[in-house]
Amino acid sequence: MEQFATVRWHDGKVRILDQTQLPNELILLEISDHSGIVNAIKKLSVRGAPAIGIAAAFGVVLSVWNASDIDRTGFLVKANKAIDDLKATRPTAKNLFWALNKMRIALSGNLNKPLKEIKLELLKAAQGILEDDIDRCRKIGKFGAELMPMRANVLTHCNAGALATGGYGTALGVLRAAREMGKKVQVYADETRPLLQGARLTTFELLEDGFDVTLICDNMAATVMKQGLVNAVIVGADRITRNGDVANKIGTYGLAVLARQHNIPFYVAAPLSTFDFDLANGDEIPIEERDPEEVRKFGSSLVAPEDVKVYNPAFDVTPNELVETIITEEGVFKKPFEQSLAELKKNLDSNLK
Ligand code: MRU
Repeated sequence: MEQFATVRWHDGKVRILDQTQLPNELILLEISDHSGIVNAIKKLSVRGAPAIGIAAAFGVVLSVWNASDIDRTGFLVKANKAIDDLKATRPTAKNLFWALNKMRIALSGNLNKPLKEIKLELLKAAQGILEDDIDRCRKIGKFGAELMPMRANVLTHCNAGALATGGYGTALGVLRAAREMGKKVQVYADETRPLLQGARLTTFELLEDGFDVTLICDNMAATVMKQGLVNAVIVGADRITRNGDVANKIGTYGLAVLARQHNIPFYVAAPLSTFDFDLANGDEIPIEERDPEEVRKFGSSLVAPEDVKVYNPAFDVTPNELVETIITEEGVFKKPFEQSLAELKKNLDSNLK
């Protein structure tokens, strides 16, 4: 079962559930050109690492869908420009670059075909990325559910759920699977300033799915841990380097430090499309900085002097030593991550051969 149709192809257009309007309004954007997808990603109408990749893949399809079936040069210019524009939307999530690379391969692998057929091949590739993501999330869920206690009281940050993926979710997928296994799951959701993905999206998604969920402000996490209210922390990831450092929504690192202090296991759930084996460690991950207005305002209300200086990194990096287990669709990985992830990489490479 898919919890939400975050991004879908529909009759030559892409439908995106506008996450900037949740939970107040359920608005489906209908997008017909790649620049519409570029805007939707930049303004977070679609967000969450896997969902960004899926939307970008469909953006490539849109860029050529209505193009002439005889002008080959024009077709390639359009597709390559779309790939470049989509790459420039958000820098941190590896899934975006992974998906665009898949689309580039689908394009170059079918160049000898008529343009009409290449369009269909690109659509097939984008649909494949979407369907594959749902499948990966299900597998992550199964592996992760085994790790959850029978009575799981779990703290999560941002939104790593159905809304952030093709459906089902990574971190929240683990909670769904744990519940399906008969475990009792109770969730604390950090609100996740500045854009409130936890308050607006995670609580909405979990309530819709019948979970017991409690919203807390980000600065309440330490108290919740100290009071013994949680026995696990689980988050998603935007990029994981080959030593196991994890980039995720700003505030994740602080949670990991708090979890260590309180002896609470800190789990990261992510598909392999989030891994960047080219990067040795988290210092090399590009961290997006966003508009200062997001911090000066709470929703649409100004809550600070309008000219105050602001620092607004959208992500932080949790060092590998604070991570208990990384949960993927290929199984779970433990410390030392340099070793366990090198083994994973070796297996992936030999499967490709
Ligand atoms: O800025 P966002 O909302 O795109 O950030 C999302 C996150 O940080 C998620 O935790 C991450 O992408 C994993 S989603 C499965």
